[in-house]
Amino acid sequence: MALWYGGDYNPEQWPEPVWLEDVALMREAGVNLVSLGVFAWSRLEPAEGRYEFGWLDRVMDLLADGGVGVALATPTASPPPWFSLAHPDALPVTADGVRLTHGSRDTYCASAPAYRQAALRVAGELAQRYRDHPALRLWHVHNEYGTWCHCAHTATAFREWLRRRYGGLDELNDAWTTSFWSQYYSDWAQIQPPLATQYLSNPAQQLDFRRFTSDELLAAYCEQRDLLRTATPGTPVTTNFVLGGWVPVEHWSWSSEVDIVAIDHYPDRAGVAAAEQTAFAADLARGWAGGQPWLLLEQAPNLIYSAGRMLAKEPGQMTRHSLAHIARGSRGAMFFQWRQPVGGAERFHSAMLPHAGADSRIFRESAVLGRLLGELDDPGLVTEPVDIGARTAIVWDDQSWWALQSSGLPTAALRYLEPIQAVHRVLWRAGVPVDFVAPGAELGEYALVLVPSLYLVSDQVAASLTSYVDEGGQLVVWYFSGIADEAGRVRLGGYPGALRELLGVRVEEFLPLAEGEAAPLSTGEHGRDWSERLAVTTAQVVVSYATGLPAITRNHYSRGSAWYVSTWLDDLALARLLAEIAAVAGVAQEQAPPAGVEVVHRRVGSTGWSFVLNHSDAERAVAVRGVDAVDGSEITGLRAVPAGGYAIVRDEQPEL
Ligand code: GAL
Repeated sequence: MALWYGGDYNPEQWPEPVWLEDVALMREAGVNLVSLGVFAWSRLEPAEGRYEFGWLDRVMDLLADGGVGVALATPTASPPPWFSLAHPDALPVTADGVRLTHGSRDTYCASAPAYRQAALRVAGELAQRYRDHPALRLWHVHNEYGTWCHCAHTATAFREWLRRRYGGLDELNDAWTTSFWSQYYSDWAQIQPPLATQYLSNPAQQLDFRRFTSDELLAAYCEQRDLLRTATPGTPVTTNFVLGGWVPVEHWSWSSEVDIVAIDHYPDRAGVAAAEQTAFAADLARGWAGGQPWLLLEQAPNLIYSAGRMLAKEPGQMTRHSLAHIARGSRGAMFFQWRQPVGGAERFHSAMLPHAGADSRIFRESAVLGRLLGELDDPGLVTEPVDIGARTAIVWDDQSWWALQSSGLPTAALRYLEPIQAVHRVLWRAGVPVDFVAPGAELGEYALVLVPSLYLVSDQVAASLTSYVDEGGQLVVWYFSGIADEAGRVRLGGYPGALRELLGVRVEEFLPLAEGEAAPLSTGEHGRDWSERLAVTTAQVVVSYATGLPAITRNHYSRGSAWYVSTWLDDLALARLLAEIAAVAGVAQEQAPPAGVEVVHRRVGSTGWSFVLNHSDAERAVAVRGVDAVDGSEITGLRAVPAGGYAIVRDEQPEL
């Protein structure tokens, strides 16, 4: 089994002679998998019930003959114009009540019966037609689920979902605290999706609507998956996840419904920061996959969108990012896209085969990368559980992220993603491997568990964190965690309600800091954004505010300890604190990798694979042992890696 390599392929955008050139160039580039038909619905079904598969038959055959496998997409992320005209009720409605029109993509309502039926029909036709095709390797359902709708169909489905969740209106009224501002519901029919409101809207309604939307989209995915599984029981089915604050997808529940977790990843920073984002996304994907191999289904070879400007990747970067994903468990490296289009909204988005053609730096780098991946011929890289030696875990919770986007929080500086990324980044720089785990997951294998921004904590999650510490774990909890229950209701008696006893602290008041304000600490460092009037009950003070109040504490609890951090630290201060805690937990690395260098040691069966990726602009030397997978040389000491380069070293007798 080889690593998968390739990209989104859109032959429907090109005349037939180009297809022949595509396959020839794919072979030259070592491409062995393409995502096909992702946005091809209007070309597959140009009128209702009239299917045109001839062109796709020829493309599938050409690819099979060329030795290129296919991740065949169901095209349901973009219904064709005829569908939207025939079923205007299936067009999505925004929170402002505006019904969107056709002309972009992802323009559908997942609760509209007409959409669900049409999506299943076209998926079913594809399944029947290509179930035995030799090119078929994987089903790629839809694309980046994440669409919102607030229409009447959605309202009906939302109410049904709420009935299932709460059983009765009393329970719902209680969970949503509807006595506040006269929102008490006396009939289910009064409940709407969270439409635009006059002033701050109900945060519990917002949160439940996200949960509902996640479940509704998941149901739409599962319908297609079940149909595809029935047609081709041996072919894995997946969909590509995308990460973003707007995405209403609860990744832990979705991950258990896909045969292989697949993600798209587009860093929006340059240089080493992009490598840090890449490692973060890859570790998260491995977490969602429960430590099994997963798949990077999209990344950009060069220009990507970033805050209104496109960001270029420097030469070598697409290679290093691909290797970083593979090192952390991806069973291949896929790109968006194979060939850069002449028109359409994404005509300047990069591709493996750019507008300049094959005589280009990007295509040449794509071909070198394809050959390299072809040479990493250990089937275990694709099939074995992914072991990068992580004994540190970070808790990931989409629902707390959603709740931290609600109205009425004490400060806009309370964020979800940034603190988690900061913690991951600091450990990445220190060379500490990290897993991501779900709230309430079994934590016994970890020596250190980190909990930034876990705003919602159920009794069950609080109990699992407590028993983790009870059994000897080191737990670190950051401010604004454990504040509320699953419905977002504040836990009383002093913050952080759910974890107060475990942490041995009690917070009576929040003291959010003004923008730019710094809270001096006893270490000479500063806290920002947030501080608290914190009192210790059983914990010891590790760091104080200059005011004398505790800022960072440690509570020896049973066999372990629970640390609490009540302010936002910059990366240097955070690194110092985490180094101290990592040493206590026994997970500190003897030596951090040189600045800008990423080293991943992955054990595959009895083989040790070391991936050394130099994201910096200077040559760096790293101690590794084994045989260089590229040139076959034996390495026993330091291996110099050029600026922007990499080394992959295979060791048949790794140290335990
Ligand atoms: C992804 C999407 C692709 C393409 C790409 C551009 O999110 O799945 O279709 O739009 O972004 O970066």
